[in-house]
Amino acid sequence: MIIQPRVRGFICLTSHPEGTAQHIKNQIDYVKSQGEISNGPKKVLVIGASTGFGLASRITAAYGSGAATIGVFFEKPAAPGKPGTAGWYNTAAFEKEAHAAGLYAKSINGDAFSDDIKQQTIDLIKADLGQVDLVIYSLASPRRTHPKTGVAHASVLKPIGQSFTNKTVDFHTGVISDISIQPVENEEDIENTIAVMGGEDWKFWIEELKEAGVLAEGVKTVAYSYIGPELTYPIYRNGTIGKAKDDLEDTVTVLNDMLQDLNGISYVSVNKALVTQSSSAIPVVPLYISFLYKVMKEKGIHEGTIEQMQRLFAEKLYNNNTPTLDEKGRIRVDDLEMRADVQAEVDALWQKATTENLEEISDIKGYRDDFFNLFGFNFDNINYDADTNEVVNIPSIKS
Ligand code: NAI
Repeated sequence: MIIQPRVRGFICLTSHPEGTAQHIKNQIDYVKSQGEISNGPKKVLVIGASTGFGLASRITAAYGSGAATIGVFFEKPAAPGKPGTAGWYNTAAFEKEAHAAGLYAKSINGDAFSDDIKQQTIDLIKADLGQVDLVIYSLASPRRTHPKTGVAHASVLKPIGQSFTNKTVDFHTGVISDISIQPVENEEDIENTIAVMGGEDWKFWIEELKEAGVLAEGVKTVAYSYIGPELTYPIYRNGTIGKAKDDLEDTVTVLNDMLQDLNGISYVSVNKALVTQSSSAIPVVPLYISFLYKVMKEKGIHEGTIEQMQRLFAEKLYNNNTPTLDEKGRIRVDDLEMRADVQAEVDALWQKATTENLEEISDIKGYRDDFFNLFGFNFDNINYDADTNEVVNIPSIKS
């Protein structure tokens, strides 16, 4: 079928199999160009492995240190006349490339919050790898059904205490408007967001993997967080999602205790703001990112998800490095984003932004390109008017 982008707000309903394959190939080529990561991971479980930071982590582990990878995610398979989700095609392309390169790669598609998917993952590790030496936790989800209570929690993106008004952009049209977001009305919204995006599920994973004996001596586990600039504090770091990130970050202490007898360690890495399916859903953030891209590209310090994860692995977690942690015990690969000169320039652009000057003073074009790239669109070498086979399978998943 001919697959063109079909956009609804911050979601693209279609994905292109050949374009996503190109996106995977570009990321693999980047990791290969950076050379081998010495004493890197060898057997890796990535939870949230199909898009964004989790996918980039999987590619970095596989191609940076030849790791066998198991990826867990929740994606819609391709069917005749119905393209699969980007994460489905990404994984199909990744597995094909990995297998051709002689690398072990298998995947599990289902709800990572459930006991069932955790058990399936444990069974697969036992059968094929024995143990894993790195567990990446990179889920981003709007909801979670709690595996013990059966309660369905929905996260919200709201400020706490007072309403928040600021500029936001429709990144398709470039129209800037003011958005006012009302604060949470009750504690429940905060608790639900913590239940979805906080640290409990990460803890359940590590507990269950450990109990099953599938964590190797010296295992590392890493989850991802975000801080960002003051202008997004009310909606991000001081809002409901920020409370969930506080909880995720606090989980490190619990996991470090749990992993002590294995000489294992857990980290939270604070990453840079980037265009992913999750971040495009947050008000205000896309406009911030379009200025951030502009400033960081001009300074020659821009990174995408793959550059961020390559740097995390090569300069913080492996290559005989011990990461320097901030005052709250976190790894910071958002250091370039948070540089004072970068933030001052972003702030100045923010103040003068209007619909009329946006194309000129921001990198909204770069934002759009990245957004469409996520779904396999806007790659120069792909003919989007040509017929393509939409039914692409993931080799390790029986259809
Ligand atoms: P993403 O939307 O690209 O990836 C989310 C992944 O989670 C996908 O693989 C998806 O299939 C999987 N997933 C979602 N629900 C699932 C479920 N129930 N069961 C199994 N898999 C499920 O998101 P992104 O942006 O890569 O986020 C990953 C982490 O990085 C999050 O913790 C996020 O807060 C953090 N982060 C993101 C930043 C950004 O700017 N995008 C910046 C810093 C941190």
